[in-house]
Amino acid sequence: MIHVTFVCLGNICRSPMAEAVLQQMVNAAGLADQFMVDSAGTSGWHAGEPAHSGTRRVLSQHGITYRGSARQVAWSDVRAENGYIIAMDGHNVADLQERFGSIARLYPLLEFASETDEVDVPDPYYTGGFDYVYSLVSDGCRGLLNHIIAEHVLQPTAHVILK
Ligand code: 4NP
Repeated sequence: MIHVTFVCLGNICRSPMAEAVLQQMVNAAGLADQFMVDSAGTSGWHAGEPAHSGTRRVLSQHGITYRGSARQVAWSDVRAENGYIIAMDGHNVADLQERFGSIARLYPLLEFASETDEVDVPDPYYTGGFDYVYSLVSDGCRGLLNHIIAEHVLQPTAHVILK
């Protein structure tokens, strides 16, 4: 089983969006039985809350329903065998390293994106821009899934072309 945990600050805007988008791509690729996709926040400020209304709106516009609730990242995420920790921005990377030390397979999401020069997924909590965040997240998730497929020599039943 491959574990992917997306991490942002609050776990209500960016990382739940990425979780929902990657899960959709994994399902479409026929790989759902080989993946556990999840998300968490470096903070526990919004623990137990549903995703932000902006995230739920943009997901539903793309035909995706998200029912998860926020939680803080834990040692079990970082230690998961075959685990990928995918951070939304450089602050998240620094916070994770400060708390847990060096982490195998910790990457910023946009390292896998091919259609943008952005390094960080901007935080839409204060300023909005959920549609732009969606475009970055889906670009990054496509690249991430193709990376994991190659690394683990998985056999998708369909190519990942979701936009
Ligand atoms: P997220 O956005 O990290 O993408 O979930 C934020 C959510 C909440 C806060 C900041 C960013 N906050 O300050 O409460």
